[in-house]
Amino acid sequence: MMVGWSVWRSPVMVLTAGVRCSSSVPAVRQAYSDSNMVRPFSEIPGLWKNGAANLYNFWKLDGFKNLHRIMLQNFNTFGPIYREKVGYYESVNIINPEDAAILFKAEGNYPKRLKVEAWTSYRDYRNRKYGVLLKNGEDWRSNRVILNKEVISPKVLGNFVPLLEEVGQDFVARVHKKIMRTGQNKWTTDLSQELFKYALESVSSVLYGERLGLMLDYIDPEAQHFINCITVMFKTTSPMLYIPPALLRKVGAKVWRDHVEAWDGIFNQADRCIHNIYRQLRLEAGTPKKYPGVLASLLMLDKLSIEDIKASITELMAGGVDTTSITLLWTLYELARHPNLQEELRAEVAAARAESQGDMLEMLKHIPLVKGALKETLRLHPVAVSLQRYITEDIIIQNYHIPAGTLVQLGLYAMGRDPKVFPRPEQYQPSRWLRTETHYFRSLGFGFGPRQCLGRRIAETEMQIFLIHMLENFRVEKERHAEVQSTFELILVPEKPIILTLKPLHISR
Ligand code: HEM
Repeated sequence: MMVGWSVWRSPVMVLTAGVRCSSSVPAVRQAYSDSNMVRPFSEIPGLWKNGAANLYNFWKLDGFKNLHRIMLQNFNTFGPIYREKVGYYESVNIINPEDAAILFKAEGNYPKRLKVEAWTSYRDYRNRKYGVLLKNGEDWRSNRVILNKEVISPKVLGNFVPLLEEVGQDFVARVHKKIMRTGQNKWTTDLSQELFKYALESVSSVLYGERLGLMLDYIDPEAQHFINCITVMFKTTSPMLYIPPALLRKVGAKVWRDHVEAWDGIFNQADRCIHNIYRQLRLEAGTPKKYPGVLASLLMLDKLSIEDIKASITELMAGGVDTTSITLLWTLYELARHPNLQEELRAEVAAARAESQGDMLEMLKHIPLVKGALKETLRLHPVAVSLQRYITEDIIIQNYHIPAGTLVQLGLYAMGRDPKVFPRPEQYQPSRWLRTETHYFRSLGFGFGPRQCLGRRIAETEMQIFLIHMLENFRVEKERHAEVQSTFELILVPEKPIILTLKPLHISR
């Protein structure tokens, strides 16, 4: 990142030109001239004067794994806004929904997140193109507008549902088979590997319009390798948030070598899948009879270059595995801890099925509590610890002036656990999302605005369909007293295996 602090500190800033900027110019200047209420950037509390010392302390606290807890603790120490500098990475951190609204208003026309240098360094190193995840500016916007139509617009839901429904049914059949094999009418296991496969099968079936066959007993070793590579890719990214990858590359550090190997595995598998569809399309002339998947739709649309399509499809594939699978694992964990709630959700699903006569697209409109459960999971166990934006205009938050260009982070994990924002935050209560109480800038698990998660519709549909099928078929239980915390591996993941028991509601097939 990397504009020096010295430029940012001056309270009298030349504001970046932009559509939304002009309105705030008078507001900020006015605030300065009207009173002494607005305090300068340099007075924001926090530890930002010595990045190297902070990095050392961070490392001592095992901060690479505890980033979310350290953030929570910092909000407790410094209040709802603090400034920090760890290594070469510096930001202003906020926690309140009302402040999040101010932040997102200042994100400009080309919202920009924290630059993950490890990821861009790999692409530059291997001479691979950036996709929508890593692009910025007009290049990002023009690609994103085209991708939005094929991946996140409401009209594509009807195409995705039958594909995801088939994967959901196969997952259930697989669990029934596993239960039968135990001979005990139940299956006690760490479901994470099965969920990774479910997630990859789901996202691939939407992207390629084809099944990879991951719900079978024997699976393609390349697909299993791809799954392993994603986990390693995330895990090796977090240390490189604080130590420049260029330096690690120079000294031949293991973390950099592992990172490169992981991305190589991801790109090789995605290349194979993409090449396969590309070849098929060239062989089969004419319009396909059924929905051919996102990749083929993009190729036929012919509005993005093949290289751009390949880069973004690879990112969608890589972004679509650990995110949904871990959210589903946490949801099953919470349902196992709350058996009565589990029954409530089951009753909602049964009523929805009766009302919609089994039409899945219709059924998805009648499961508000299931949707609330997913929101509640993302509140307590968000995939992303924070949302970040480089602001494009000066703003005032908590009476502090923050100049344009600053990286501002909204602590999602901390906000989700703040009793001022969510009464009794420690309680898992999906119904809190049904009530009329304000949800203003509170449901942000997928991010916000034009830069929000591109895979959101795939993820939500895939997770809802999964829960419908699981609730209709199995009771989920867990051992008592087995509390599981999160650990930071760029995304938040369970710190130890979550062991669950699945019991069939009816005699197992
Ligand atoms: C529970 C599941 C998921 C969660 C919680 C999640 C969360 C997020 C968040 C917080 C962001 C950043 C948004 C922002 O800065 O405002 C993001 C970006 C993104 N996600 Fe997801 N995600 C999930 C699943 C997926 C899936 C399934 C895919 C692919 C199919 C995906 C692909 C992406 C991509 C490509 C971006 C970058 C978009 C851009 O920069 O324009 N995500 N996601």
